[in-house]
Amino acid sequence: MKIFLDTANIDDIRTADGWGILDGVTTNPTLAGRERRPFREIVEDICEVMGDRPVSAEVVATDAEGMLTEAREVSSWASNVVVKIPLIPEGIRAITVLCQEGIRVNCTLCFSPAQALLAAKAGATYVSPFIGRLDDIGHDGMELVAQIKQILDNYDYLDTQIITSSVRHVQHVVRAAMVGSHVATLPFQVLEQCFHHALTDVGLQRFLDDWEKAGLSIF
Ligand code: E4P
Repeated sequence: MKIFLDTANIDDIRTADGWGILDGVTTNPTLAGRERRPFREIVEDICEVMGDRPVSAEVVATDAEGMLTEAREVSSWASNVVVKIPLIPEGIRAITVLCQEGIRVNCTLCFSPAQALLAAKAGATYVSPFIGRLDDIGHDGMELVAQIKQILDNYDYLDTQIITSSVRHVQHVVRAAMVGSHVATLPFQVLEQCFHHALTDVGLQRFLDDWEKAGLSIF
């Protein structure tokens, strides 16, 4: 499963990239707003760090014409930009046109399998089910990912990848991988949590203590 980082913070992206396991980045208007600098600068900086790996940047227009204008602009900033378009009727109209123009789209704010089917039919490269927000209202967000996966597999929608989004904890990451999500996009803290296990820390300490007691050395 590919791992994307869900942030617009360049320092977090550089740190995660240093671990060598980062496949892409997703941003959204809320995350970009936290950075307190121009949107274009944020996107260009992230795209430079990520090289040819995908970076999702979202439009804010809510009509198809406006989305198309913004999408063409944002995608001209770097070759690895993927334009994020919300899953509304105007968004699906815009995605159909953008796909014909060869602009890659991440269809965002997906909360149902029927919505995901529409995104795939329109030709979106990615569809982003928001599982944490579904859990928040008492639904099983991960069940949505499983349903979408089955639908895409049933009809060979090989060009659309699921990005498990709105991830809140490590179990979301594990379950996304178990149901075959192509990608999970993780907040920086969740990616950090993936490293940790109490027994790893205890086990490492014991090995180091035993090694020292035995007076061994590698060189
Ligand atoms: C997806 O691309 C979104 O940026 C994101 O996962 C939203 O998650 P939230 O529910 O934590 O805001």
